Amino acid sequence: MQDRLTAQLGEMVLTGDAVLPYCRDWIGDVQSSALAVLRPRTTAQVQDCVRVAAALGLGIVPQGGNTGLVLGAMPDAPDRQVVVSLERMTAIRNLAPNDFAIEVEAGAILQDIKDAAAQVGLYFPLSLGAQGSCRIGGNVSTNAGGINVLRYGMTRELVLGLEVVLPNGSLFAGLSSLRKDNRGIDLKQLFIGAEGTLGIVTAVTLKLVPAPTAIATALVALDDLEGAIALYRHARRDCCDLLSAFEFMPPLAFTLAREAMPDLPLPMDPGHPAYALIEMSGSGLVDVDDLMARFLERALEGRLARDGVVAQSRAQAANLWAIREGMNLGQVQRGRHLRTDISVPLSQLATFVSEAEAAVADVLPGAVCVSYGHVGDGNVHLNVLPGPGADADIQIARAKTAIDAALDRHAGSISAEHGIGRLKRAAFEARLPPAQARLLQAIRQAVDPEGIMNPGCQITPRPATSGSVQGA
Ligand code: FAD
Ligand code: LAC
Ligand code: ZN
Repeated sequence: MQDRLTAQLGEMVLTGDAVLPYCRDWIGDVQSSALAVLRPRTTAQVQDCVRVAAALGLGIVPQGGNTGLVLGAMPDAPDRQVVVSLERMTAIRNLAPNDFAIEVEAGAILQDIKDAAAQVGLYFPLSLGAQGSCRIGGNVSTNAGGINVLRYGMTRELVLGLEVVLPNGSLFAGLSSLRKDNRGIDLKQLFIGAEGTLGIVTAVTLKLVPAPTAIATALVALDDLEGAIALYRHARRDCCDLLSAFEFMPPLAFTLAREAMPDLPLPMDPGHPAYALIEMSGSGLVDVDDLMARFLERALEGRLARDGVVAQSRAQAANLWAIREGMNLGQVQRGRHLRTDISVPLSQLATFVSEAEAAVADVLPGAVCVSYGHVGDGNVHLNVLPGPGADADIQIARAKTAIDAALDRHAGSISAEHGIGRLKRAAFEARLPPAQARLLQAIRQAVDPEGIMNPGCQITPRPATSGSVQGA
């Protein structure tokens, strides 16, 4: 089989040990394998890869930066699947400042797109801890969120057009910088968040906005999560659209970040019960430093905040963000742990977190909950670090059951931003209402009747059923 792939696709094909780095997830929890990794350089070569793999009856697992946290880009049938990596398709095809748009190939690294936009005084707002490694095709396919969602929306809201190779090798040619286009159903939306189950994204047209010329970043100490949410509501009202990030962190964030980056300076007493990292940004004549100063003054006077420090330089702001990013690395260094990606209505977030943390403490007294994240979006990463004693995987399973029960009581989402992948497929399908399940199956069947695109990701492929998609 590998010989046939190499005969038809030549130097695009990697086999043997060379596939292994592509088959290990970012955390390092899973090491899988694949028949081959295919690395096309052009859209036409992606079409070749898809046609050849389809003719050989192989499953295709698209891969970008492989920073996904739900095993969406991890092959699960090593002798029947190939990875198609977009890592050699990194071109910025067209930077169009007059259209406030940029057209890029799917393998372009998110940070490189942000840097290209910055060169012409523009800004691509998608921002996440993995931005130095994740690729825009992966961002589109997971509909990534990150720290700027409360102002600029999820990836979906930043996509103007898409080019996608479909499972039969044909091209969905939907690149466009049009801002308004109501010609019927917006088909590109199907591929955003599809996690590679409907085709391979090969290029994207993205929205750009004017680059913020002033950014104010502050770390604020708080009583608890409820206090953070109260402060967030004030920030939304007092700072109108200039609020660009509002992240919640527990005090353990400092410990975890320091474990990963021992030299990281601590900007304030790490002994408060809770913290928020707040950013305001603007361009033109707006004075965001003054806005931040007045906002914090009011918050301290009104006892909404215990303490606050405003970054005095870009370097200080970067240090504040390093605490938020370092806590992810610190958790990885602690070993196997439960990662969640939950959203509930903002008004229920504090209650949900306290219920879920109490439920975990009940079943696992030695475990440590680390709840943090994008408060403004009602999105919490309620992670659990297993305690000593029982096997980590058993503890993770128990913690997950406890958290899921609390989540279901609040009608929340098991995936606010990371997607379903393979890790959450069972939990997703168990909660999927019948009409949605039928529609998802019908879409997948219509676009990919042979079931070759990322089999095992998101939903379990089923044979076509007769009857109406709407069901009974
Ligand atoms: P991959 O991991 O390679 O793939 C992800 C999924 O997309 C897979 O199902 C894959 O098959 C599919 N895919 C990839 N490329 C294509 C393509 N060209 N065509 C079709 N399908 C494709 N996520 C957030 O949303 N918010 C965060 O704040 C955030 N922070 C993170 C911080 C860290 C430190 C890390 C490691 C991850 C974080 N993530 C976050 C998760 C991850 O970075 C995102 O999901 C990101 O969008 C994945 O991009 P990628 O290029 O790495 O995709
Ligand atoms: C974050 C990732 C885990 O917000 O989504 O850090
Ligand atoms: Zn997140």
